[in-house]
Amino acid sequence: MADKKKMSVADMLAAARKADGGGGGEKSAEKPADADAPAAPESVSPKASAAEEQPTKKSAASGERPSVADMLKMARGQGGGEKPAAEKSKPTAKSTAKPAAKAKPAAKATAKPGAGAPKDTASILAAARKTEKPGPMSKADAAARSDKQGAGKAGPAKQKAAKAKLTVPPMPTKPDYAKGKPGAKSKPGAKGKPGTKGRPARAKAGTEDRRGVMSLMFGSALGVGFTMLGATHVLWGLATTRFMFPNVLVEPPSRVKVGFPADFPQGQVVTKFKAQFGIWVVKGEYDGLQQIYALKTVCTHLGCTPNWLDAEQKFKCPCHGSGFYADGINFEGPAPRPLERYAIKISEDGQLEVDKSKVFMQEKGEWNDPASFVSV
Ligand code: FES
Repeated sequence: MADKKKMSVADMLAAARKADGGGGGEKSAEKPADADAPAAPESVSPKASAAEEQPTKKSAASGERPSVADMLKMARGQGGGEKPAAEKSKPTAKSTAKPAAKAKPAAKATAKPGAGAPKDTASILAAARKTEKPGPMSKADAAARSDKQGAGKAGPAKQKAAKAKLTVPPMPTKPDYAKGKPGAKSKPGAKGKPGTKGRPARAKAGTEDRRGVMSLMFGSALGVGFTMLGATHVLWGLATTRFMFPNVLVEPPSRVKVGFPADFPQGQVVTKFKAQFGIWVVKGEYDGLQQIYALKTVCTHLGCTPNWLDAEQKFKCPCHGSGFYADGINFEGPAPRPLERYAIKISEDGQLEVDKSKVFMQEKGEWNDPASFVSV
């Protein structure tokens, strides 16, 4: 037995599985069981208890095949793992009665070597604190840490508030047109969009507003209708205002001064006032008297304006050929009666003053009225 090669843990486990599988593997399982049953105690450390050796010896002495639990125990003992002190101090009878149950601590220790560190709450907190950032921290880190701690310790209401605070969307980036020129400041009291500075943003906003109004006015049929209605009301108001102010004829004054009597030559017809005042001033003889009188430049036929023909010493109407003498008596053409006279007198300043508001007719005998001439 002693000169036989010592089986490894893996071999013993394989043999145990085969033996546990039953039937077919009996012969192969018997060999290691017979050969190793006495050898197992040799591989176990001297500190192994008698409780562990007893079942193996019993099975070897009685010639029975060792159980899986016995072989596992032997394997653990061979692996060098130290048995717990409680297991060492336990009586042999107990270890024989429940060998599988006592093998659990050793199996755990074998399965996870190095993971036997205690994992209590203090050690976990210490490990978590080690992961925190050492030294002075920024405001953002402090706020995040306080939020984290507050979220862990605070009640449901505070946790909801913290979640709502976290879900606030970030501020959008400022567009280029809102940034304005560097150094430009908005006027105090000027209202604008929050976050905008300087005139460019306000001008942009004003342009956009005007565009909106223009599109509202001219961009739709409703806007066109309202625009036409407004224009109609404006025109109606202007027409009403014009109706309230009647037309006023601005006529020349009825009294005009034509000059001193000495300025007019004897037996001449002065035509220079024809266009301006509509009169001929004549210094001549009528009914045996030297007079100065003013003739109206209107043909008594149909109202045309005759012309003075100095060569023929007559007034000739261009419309129907009526002719008048220098004193205004009609002698040819369709004119039914002589020309008319205006009232004339010498004014305070010695000038001849013609009053066009008064008319004298020869056929009515009015030319004998002293108001119709000035004696020379
Ligand atoms: Fe002068 Fe007819 S209007 S002749």
